Amino acid sequence: QPIYLADYQPPAFLVEKVELTFKLAPTTTRVLSRIRFAPNPAAVPGQDLHLDGEGLRLIAASIDGTPLTATPDATGLTLEAASLPDAPFTFQAEVEIAPEGNTALEGLYMSNGMYCTQCEAEGFRKITYYPDRPDVMAPFRVRVESDLPVLLSNGNPVESGPGWAEWDDPHPKPSYLFALVAGDLRATTGHFTTMDGCDVTLNIWVRPGDEDKTAYALDALKRSMLWDEQVYGRVYDLDIFNIVAVDDFNMGAMENKGLNIFNSRCVLASAETATDGDFAAIERIIAHEYFHNWTGNRITCRDWFQLSLKEGLTVFRDQQFMGDMRSHAVKRIDDVLTLRARQFREDAGPLAHPVRPESYVEINNFYTATVYEKGAELIRMLRLLVGEDRYRAALDLYFERHDGQACTIEDWIAVFAEAAGRDLSQFKRWYEQAGTPKVTLLEHWEDGTLTLTLRQYSAPTPGQPLKEPLLIPVALGLVGPDGAELMPTQVLELDSPEQVFTFTDLPARPVVSALRGFSAPVVLEHAQSSAESNVLLGHDTDPFARFEAGRNLARHILHGMILDGAPPNPDYLNAMRLVLVDDRLDPAFRALVLRLPGEDELAQSLHAAGHTPNPDAIHAARRRALCLLAEALAPDLTRMVNAMATPGAYNPDARDAGRRALRLAAAGLLAHADGGTKARDIFAQADNMTEQFGAWCALLAVGAGSAESLQFHRQWQANRLVMDKWFGAQVAFAQPDLAPAVAEELTRHAGFDWKNPNRFRAVIGSLGAHPAGFHQSSGAGYRLVADWLIRLDTANPQAAARISTVFETWSRYDAERQALIRAELTRILDRPDCSRDMGEMVGRMLG
Ligand code: ARG
Ligand code: ZN
Repeated sequence: QPIYLADYQPPAFLVEKVELTFKLAPTTTRVLSRIRFAPNPAAVPGQDLHLDGEGLRLIAASIDGTPLTATPDATGLTLEAASLPDAPFTFQAEVEIAPEGNTALEGLYMSNGMYCTQCEAEGFRKITYYPDRPDVMAPFRVRVESDLPVLLSNGNPVESGPGWAEWDDPHPKPSYLFALVAGDLRATTGHFTTMDGCDVTLNIWVRPGDEDKTAYALDALKRSMLWDEQVYGRVYDLDIFNIVAVDDFNMGAMENKGLNIFNSRCVLASAETATDGDFAAIERIIAHEYFHNWTGNRITCRDWFQLSLKEGLTVFRDQQFMGDMRSHAVKRIDDVLTLRARQFREDAGPLAHPVRPESYVEINNFYTATVYEKGAELIRMLRLLVGEDRYRAALDLYFERHDGQACTIEDWIAVFAEAAGRDLSQFKRWYEQAGTPKVTLLEHWEDGTLTLTLRQYSAPTPGQPLKEPLLIPVALGLVGPDGAELMPTQVLELDSPEQVFTFTDLPARPVVSALRGFSAPVVLEHAQSSAESNVLLGHDTDPFARFEAGRNLARHILHGMILDGAPPNPDYLNAMRLVLVDDRLDPAFRALVLRLPGEDELAQSLHAAGHTPNPDAIHAARRRALCLLAEALAPDLTRMVNAMATPGAYNPDARDAGRRALRLAAAGLLAHADGGTKARDIFAQADNMTEQFGAWCALLAVGAGSAESLQFHRQWQANRLVMDKWFGAQVAFAQPDLAPAVAEELTRHAGFDWKNPNRFRAVIGSLGAHPAGFHQSSGAGYRLVADWLIRLDTANPQAAARISTVFETWSRYDAERQALIRAELTRILDRPDCSRDMGEMVGRMLG
């Protein structure tokens, strides 16, 4: 049943042209297709032609006008070689599908009376018979027939009349980039003039009533288009670019050619309804999907094993964009925190897999933090290793050589090897080996000479018992004991299990600032005293290293509190105070430093250090640390809450968002000392969602906020996206022993529409992300999540399988918890109707 990378075969037939007609109806949509096939000169001749198709009712099919007698099976229609002409031919079919009953949100489905599609990775086969694989690229022409007012598909509009519209996409594309939308929609329209002088019409389509929440997305789109021209020389290639917001959507968004479809949570924003974090996510995702036009659409993937070719690169590009739009320092720290929280967690457990997996059962299960975020880190490392200029040269070569092709990671590495004139075969192992490498740094100081011994070790991961050494770029600088930079950043290339680097003629023993900018996705083990960490926190020239020094101090103190109740030392409290009040530092950066490592991060680091994490002890210790910090810093926190107010009209830009972040971080901390007095004021005065929601969360976190909860509900009950926050926060901030019961009760709420992925995630996903609540020793959290995953699996396997990853850390915990989780996972798996998606995930988790 698994599919293997090693088994790749080129397609037997290529497609020269696709023509589709959709006669839309909720339960009886007819899809007429006319597909021009030609034998693939690069394939073994004489093969059958397999057309993928799932859940289609075949009405009629023919080849060059001759009716077809073949009968489809559960995977599609096989046209036997002997029955096919050896020259190009036209296949025609008519099928019937029922979008209304499609709760899997894959293929053609309905959301609030509107038709929409999601085809990546393999949804097109639920629309019509087709070679549904990314290495078959063709131009599409689409006719949509429906009484709904707005009818959209890929490419440029050609003609329309009452009840129909035709679209033409001249750019050959794989079927996963097909899209169709029909509904009662309103557009916010803008224009962009490309650097070649072409005018592009930009539309953000939303349901009536949401028009006031589109301005930010449109602005972000224009900035993305300009940025891709300026930084990568990439120009848009159609007359029109449409974005549609859809309430029911499995993922964040989809880069369909010329017709991006978005989860409405990733497009709609106004000051009153969206937080600064939502605005930033929208900016990033708009850019991400737009950037796919070149890295994904024009140059696509040969097969789904190469997914990171487009996703890792496009994430890297959106990270660069966000750094340019906002702050590189803050963006880098945020990205590293996300990488550790999601990808390191994945890499350390049973779901670990390489950036380029070697096999899969269901490809939707591999849209992971490893493929996306670690994939982006690999590109960042390549750029660091070859330098900025050669990075740009490699990308130019990539676009020039591979435009219009379906490519592999080998093609990608080759342009770098050529542009940089260096052998990158060892670097390529990063794509093939799973797991987070551990790098150990040992210092030896003698007579003005510092000797650094660097070692690397990669632990076994499922299916990969032995690992080869990787090429790891370690950016490192030396800082004097007074904080002055003694040696600016050098990139050490660690390419064997152990290497020694020496630095001579040093006036005094320096403080080593290693892994600046987080130059490689590794766990660094480097014993440093708190005095050394304080030097780096106070003075390092690299903002990430400053942040990291503070983080190391916090982690060390929290480990001590968790393991033997040791109180935090006063030096730490003082270091935090110095950061808090240092007005030369970006408020956003200060907010990040003030935030303590989260409970799951602590469980991860304790486990890596050889301990069995106890979720209750972690929660209690972290809570105590917050109280002690709050008491020690109370006057300064109060001052910051006042100083960081942002008077005037709400502005979502990085400057104001940073001030609000620090203000809320301060109020949140202070709530542990003042019972939430300040937070209550912020809530009462807020004219924007960032402060309203942030203050309410601060109250919930200290066991208060029930009046605010009622008020919030009353105010926002008609807004789906804000109500997702209302559902989610009550679970996320519930007292650990109450969390499963709070979530349970919310699942009985009239507004709990469990088939909507955003709402399901808000309740069940939030419980899974609340370590002390989810891992409550009674097993109530596990049971509730499993019950709901079983329910969701029957309606929407893809979403259910994705949320099942809340269980991926099970082997970290004690024997009792492990047994409880295994029993729930077994219960999920041992059902006759367990989906392929869920079956693969749970099977891998159980090992
Ligand atoms: N390509 C999309 C993106 O990165 C994600 C779509 C994934 N969808 C899925 N069903 N696996 O923006
Ligand atoms: Zn993407």
